[in-house]
Amino acid sequence: MNSIENFIRGIPKAELHLHIEGTLEPELMFALAHKHGVKLAHASVEELRAAYQFDDLQSFLDLYYAGAAVLRDEDDFHALTLAYLRRAHADGVVHVEIFFDPQTHTERGIAFETALNGIRRALADGEREFGITHRLILCFLRHLSADDAMRTLEQALPYKDMIAAVGLDSSERGHPPSKFTAVFERARREGFLSVAHAGEEGPPAYIYEALDLLRVSRIDHGVRCEEDPVLVERLAREGMPLTVCPLSNVKLRVYQRIEDHNLKRLLDRGLRVTVNSDDPAYFGGYVADNYLALQRGLNLSRDDIAQLARNSIDASFISADAKRKWLGEINCFVSAY
Ligand code: ADE
Ligand code: ZN
Repeated sequence: MNSIENFIRGIPKAELHLHIEGTLEPELMFALAHKHGVKLAHASVEELRAAYQFDDLQSFLDLYYAGAAVLRDEDDFHALTLAYLRRAHADGVVHVEIFFDPQTHTERGIAFETALNGIRRALADGEREFGITHRLILCFLRHLSADDAMRTLEQALPYKDMIAAVGLDSSERGHPPSKFTAVFERARREGFLSVAHAGEEGPPAYIYEALDLLRVSRIDHGVRCEEDPVLVERLAREGMPLTVCPLSNVKLRVYQRIEDHNLKRLLDRGLRVTVNSDDPAYFGGYVADNYLALQRGLNLSRDDIAQLARNSIDASFISADAKRKWLGEINCFVSAY
């Protein structure tokens, strides 16, 4: 491993944009399909991987929801989550904030608690085994109705202390954040923080709505903010974090090549950008692969990488004390290098 790769893998960092269903590697998908007698649309791991060529967000989501159908019992969610934590640990991740999509599972008859309990058990095991701390974020599927989202929020209320925030994902175009204003308002009253995907494929207007109507603490993706200089100025002034996912953006054709990505420009404008893997089993890399691809494609310096790692800690939902501790660890790591 060359020294920049060591630096990237070694620096303490948080991952803040990670769909647990998007960490389902083809090998585990086939093993679970076999376990439950589920028939997959592809004949082999190789054939499935070869199908991971996407034109846009929707072409990916179609495969992603089909793949999630093999997740049926608590042990499946546990195996999925623990496998991700092992990969994250190898990439220097010290804290994760994980999205899960309960509607993807309840819609096909899997209990809300099956997903929640399996994920939570693995998060506890991961903390014991790897020292990785965690928060859980419940995402609403925006292609479904606001009423469906509200019912999902109500299902989550008994588990409030286990879920830090709500989020919004799935097909962005045609499903603006405003569709979910009442759901997020209720979630806020119940004590949840919130985040939302906005400005991945959708226009800057969706970012304004996420800020002003949903009152989110972070924007997931947000890269299309660059089309609106007033918005860029506001995001910088407010220190609003963006959880950017570079390999995802290239796989889903938001950018044609990593060299075209706007992350470095946003970082230089003073935005609080972070680097994340989104759905690593589908997009060709975990979080360190995202940092590495950016470093090579945009010629990032060690200072840039250290800033991105600091941003990830700063933008997380951990306590002020924990932030101070990890920012101190990052400084030690950088000066020892
Ligand atoms: N669900 C999983 N990955 C997603 C993404 N990149 N955008 C929207 N919804 C998603
Ligand atoms: Zn995402």
